[in-house]
Amino acid sequence: MAELSAAKSASTYESSTLRRDAWIANLPFIIVLSAFGIYTTWRAFEGAYYYVDPYLSPFYSPLIDPKHHWWPFSPAILILGGPLGFRLTCYYYRKAYYRAFFGDPFGCALKEGHKGYKGETSFPFILQNIHRYFFYIAVIFVAFLWYDALVAFDFDGKFGIGVGSVVMLANIVLLTIYTFSCHSLRSLVGGKLDCFSCAALGGPRHAAWKGVTKLNEHHMFWAWVSMISVGLTDLYIYMVASGAIKDIRIL
Ligand code: FES
Repeated sequence: MAELSAAKSASTYESSTLRRDAWIANLPFIIVLSAFGIYTTWRAFEGAYYYVDPYLSPFYSPLIDPKHHWWPFSPAILILGGPLGFRLTCYYYRKAYYRAFFGDPFGCALKEGHKGYKGETSFPFILQNIHRYFFYIAVIFVAFLWYDALVAFDFDGKFGIGVGSVVMLANIVLLTIYTFSCHSLRSLVGGKLDCFSCAALGGPRHAAWKGVTKLNEHHMFWAWVSMISVGLTDLYIYMVASGAIKDIRIL
């Protein structure tokens, strides 16, 4: 009888949860990420309305072969793998989309969405470990986007400020914070050390680690706001380039 009751409570435990909070917090993530995925796919393949002097959409930067000398498709396709790979392998996004889309599991203390959990120990998810290398690539993209943001203040060789300049500047600031709050960077600068004072360049590494840790504490927040800002920046440039709205000059 006791065995029966133990088996029953075990199976109850497997199929339900004692959690009483709103653990379905994945819903906003599903909605926003799906919308972002659909929008970026459309814009990346569109190959139009990505530049209006002096603004270049972040989805198309760095701009390669815009006149189609050797690449017949949208220039965004050539470069999208860098930022996309960085986000897809990001520790935060991994947690979020494993939960939201794979139910793996839906949340802490909840049942696995399917049998045969292998985590990231086998193909294809073992490839997530290349995130560190995507970080290096992301830093190169950040440099290009800073250049674009500075060019966005150059109106026919004269300094000026348009709404687009401000939008592009805000976007690259958010993207920079997101990039430099990366867990891989934190590990790289010192997270893996047990003793800073025993390591080469221990002092500067400790200072860098403390700085990255401050940003890293809010990595999820930066992941969200930078993703939304990059989408809105492209949308703004699309609307100005297509003539739907006019860019307002502030200065
Ligand atoms: Fe999120 Fe590196 S962990 S960007």
